[in-house]
Amino acid sequence: MSYNCPKDNRVFMKLLEESGDMITIDQEVDWDMEMGAITRKVCEEQAPSPYFKKIKDYPGFESLGAPMATYRRLAIAMGMDADSSIPDIAAEYVKRTKEEPIDPVTIDKKDAPCKDNILLGDDANLFHLPGPMVHGGDGGRYLATWHFVVTKDPDTQDINWGMYRMMVFDEKTMVGPVLPFSDMGKMFHGKYAPKNEPMPFAAVLSADPMSSLASCAPSPIPEDKFTGQLMGEPVELVQCETCDLMVPATAEIIIEGEVIPGIQIEEAPFGEYTGYRTSPRDPRTVYRIKAITYRNNPIMMISNMGMPVDEGQLLRSFSLGLEMHKLLESQGIPITGVYMLPESTHHLVVVGVKRCYTGVATQIGNLIYGSKLSPWFHLTIVVDEDTDIYSKDAVIHALSTKCHPIKDIHKYENQPGTPLNPFASPAERKTSTGSKALFDCTFPLDWPTSDLPIRVSFDNVYPQEIQDKVNANWEKFGYK
Ligand SMILES: Cc1cc2nc3c(=O)[nH]c(=O)nc-3n(C[C@H](O)[C@H](O)[C@H](O)COP(=O)(O)O)c2cc1C
Repeated sequence: MSYNCPKDNRVFMKLLEESGDMITIDQEVDWDMEMGAITRKVCEEQAPSPYFKKIKDYPGFESLGAPMATYRRLAIAMGMDADSSIPDIAAEYVKRTKEEPIDPVTIDKKDAPCKDNILLGDDANLFHLPGPMVHGGDGGRYLATWHFVVTKDPDTQDINWGMYRMMVFDEKTMVGPVLPFSDMGKMFHGKYAPKNEPMPFAAVLSADPMSSLASCAPSPIPEDKFTGQLMGEPVELVQCETCDLMVPATAEIIIEGEVIPGIQIEEAPFGEYTGYRTSPRDPRTVYRIKAITYRNNPIMMISNMGMPVDEGQLLRSFSLGLEMHKLLESQGIPITGVYMLPESTHHLVVVGVKRCYTGVATQIGNLIYGSKLSPWFHLTIVVDEDTDIYSKDAVIHALSTKCHPIKDIHKYENQPGTPLNPFASPAERKTSTGSKALFDCTFPLDWPTSDLPIRVSFDNVYPQEIQDKVNANWEKFGYK
């Protein structure tokens, strides 16, 4: 069953324009920081996406900044009403991802827009594309900021799509970090590199929104099938020119090549999703390119990572939180909901639970910190049904009033952790390890009911008839 998600980036942009969530910029903008600066300000102000029609030095190329940095844009991408609430969008994601995965379909090269232009051999030059200098202080031009890298597991033949940033080094070379615990990291560092074999890759720059969401989510299944699940219909793929990998046919730009074992090139610094510039310039993974294909008048998307909220923070928080939701539910934990805050740069998650047995909060911590999801976050707040998990005010109140600073804070040391955490020590960064904490904001079950503090709120300490009377007269009193 199709959920009416836009299957083409350009259809998505039309919808954004119609709903007032995109602004067209006709003035020429510079790829050297200006496009990045506009996009950064848009993220910080949660403003409509900027559609750049004219890029200096690159006639014929266009760009879209911050394509999915708000819940409104996410709702539109999911085929929902732009005004849908966060809990409704979350419930829809959970529902769809519990349906059967949907295999992709292959379409003919002649019907694939991403094959409008094909550059091979010497013509395949990375400076042909308007890679932006995204932030002041970046170590180079980052061509791939809203994209994904397609690779294939040599043993299982499973496909992986993942977002791993890429800086342009020269006409034929890109370089970027591939973290050891990522799916591509396990494939390349664990399988190809030990045999000294190059790994074929295809970088998909600016795909349809559900493929992009799938590629940055902690997907439990190969992302090509996961995209189908999110769309309720198969994603259409087409074969690459120089290898047997498959890429979304409507994507704007494809770069094909090989990830090279045995050598590394210096990359970074870069403005990162934590809102800081953390990674030093260090040797990182090398991509040698063989071909570039692109649509006529390609529209390259750029994401500008930094202070919240950008689309990486929003979509990773959304999908990490909801994959946690599914994990806890599958283990029979009596949760009422899970919400990871995008403003926390996907580091802080709030779990709502029914207070029904002792130890449920630490059980939640053990499960989520023991899962594949754990390297990317380190703070968990467990609240009971009295607290609205989507209300920052309510969560701060619960944390400040229900969490005993000695008994209710649980620590987890020597866990896998992202080296990008600004607070991580140099040693922790080197080994990608980190520590985590869980804040239990539920009152202990062994307290006698008479000892339980009573929440003093309008809905809790007045008889229903008084509440009804006040509510009925509220507007008459002059309140809105
Ligand atoms: C914009 C963006 C850039 C990212 N860059 C990197 C990166 O350079 N290296 C990395 O290992 N992960 C990066 N990530 C995180 C991965 O995309 C993320 O872990 C994704 O789920 C891939 O998951 P998998 O490796 O488990 O398949 C980035 C995420 C986003 C949204």
